[in-house]
Amino acid sequence: MKLLQTEQWSWWKHGVIYHIYPRSFMDTNGDGIGDLQGIICKLDYLSDLGVDGIWLSPVFLSPNADFGYDVSDYRTIDPAYGAMDDFRLLIEKAHEHSIRVISDMILNHTSDQHPWFQESASSTINPKRHWYIWRDGYKGGPPNNWKSAVGGSAWEFDKRTGQYYYHSFFKDQPDLNWRNLLLPSVFFDELKFWLDLGVDGFRLDVINLIAKDKKFRNNPSFLGIPFFQKHVFTRNRYKSHKIVMELRKQVDKYQDRVMIGEIYTMPPGNSEIAASYLSGGLGIHMAFDFSLIFRQWSASSYYKCILDWYSNIPEKGWPCNVLSNHDLMRSIDRFPFRRHKHEKAKVAAAFLLTIKGTPFIYYGEEIGMRNARIRYRDIQDPLGKRYWPFFMGRDRARTPMQWNSGEYGGFTTGKPWLPLNPDKSWRNVEDLQSDGSSLLNFYRNILKIRRNHTALQMGRWIPLITGRHGILAYARALYGERVVVILNFTSKQKYINLPEHSFGQVLFSTHRHEDEIYYFQDLKIFPFEASIFKA
Ligand code: NOJ
Ligand code: CA
Repeated sequence: MKLLQTEQWSWWKHGVIYHIYPRSFMDTNGDGIGDLQGIICKLDYLSDLGVDGIWLSPVFLSPNADFGYDVSDYRTIDPAYGAMDDFRLLIEKAHEHSIRVISDMILNHTSDQHPWFQESASSTINPKRHWYIWRDGYKGGPPNNWKSAVGGSAWEFDKRTGQYYYHSFFKDQPDLNWRNLLLPSVFFDELKFWLDLGVDGFRLDVINLIAKDKKFRNNPSFLGIPFFQKHVFTRNRYKSHKIVMELRKQVDKYQDRVMIGEIYTMPPGNSEIAASYLSGGLGIHMAFDFSLIFRQWSASSYYKCILDWYSNIPEKGWPCNVLSNHDLMRSIDRFPFRRHKHEKAKVAAAFLLTIKGTPFIYYGEEIGMRNARIRYRDIQDPLGKRYWPFFMGRDRARTPMQWNSGEYGGFTTGKPWLPLNPDKSWRNVEDLQSDGSSLLNFYRNILKIRRNHTALQMGRWIPLITGRHGILAYARALYGERVVVILNFTSKQKYINLPEHSFGQVLFSTHRHEDEIYYFQDLKIFPFEASIFKA
């Protein structure tokens, strides 16, 4: 079909992407750390699950001050994960499975161990000095009041050269100076290296932080709270959009590649800002907005959130949707109350996989992995180390994938870098695979239906019931194909009418048999029902 080859039908628009935290996915050499060979040996699993792409959190050489988000060489694979040949093999094998590979890319900062920074820090006249952001102090203190995202001043004093350098995150992660005219071409070369190798795209880490105020003006305080400030001069500067558009031009020289930008804004999220980075089709291809993650569990709040998101997406833009990632707690644990977690996870999954936009699934979400309890001595995340016991850090959502009920969940034969969640004894791929009503099979079934119904991939989204009495119903429609989705966010039985449609045939449902036909008048909806009909 000719149409399928046009930009409008790119794989990343109709596909589903699975986010792998490589350190925790599958270990093949018994050192307790997940690796590239581990991902390769799980490609059949991913293919059976029905995903079209994988995004790998960074596997570049890194001293791991922030587990890969501090890169010391963008062209070397960290030996913990394997070698460049393993990466090549991963691309080759993934492509054989029709799975694309998206690499993380950290453009905002490097590791302080990166030779660029080492040179930059070596003297004020080093040619790489202005690759990073160096300033003189002000009145015996840092240059201004800018705070890092992890707490404290974002400026670190360097005794050797008597100046401060800027870091949006930890001091081991100095920010690059994207106002330096050399920087874009330096990074275009890094991107080109990976594109030539065959990666299908990049997830751009904190891309909205990339440009800072030229005049280094102080940020206003946030409600007078000392820890926080409004990042007016350090985030979402106009220049960030310009840089992103330049990156897009470079990436567009290659066919069918994609850039997804992480646009983190403080809770409750800001979809307008996230969508602004799509720049009318000239910016990133997709933007992560985290508003949905910050929403409370209710049909109407999910509806409003998504409506707001779509209303901000430019005509030539495309939404993507996500429930959890390696920084934020696992979605299932955010759903309120201990009861009905499993049912809620199914409703949320049905929502994620049938609304308009490319779904991102965080590894383990498909088996309902929970945040694990991590003892102080097991904490790995520097944020956890810094803020325990007030904040446990992000390890809780990064524990090893639970493949089976074995001692280490089939993840490793050695000692895992983070303990497994003990619930691996019953919550694991092997056991859930054989349970027809498991969350895992629920994900698989919906992904299968999604694959067979272009309306679910690319169709218009038409709201039918917008949260009243805890019900969300909508249609997806394309070229005469129409699919109706009905979700009950509550534990109560409800009755609904869909005047726009007279009846539908069940494609998949938590409560109904496939192929059965139901009339949408006074239709009884079961507690936590998630049903997909062909209408
Ligand atoms: C966002 C990443 O997702 C997070 O894990 C990391 O700590 C920061 N960016 C800094 O790179
Ligand atoms: Ca390993």
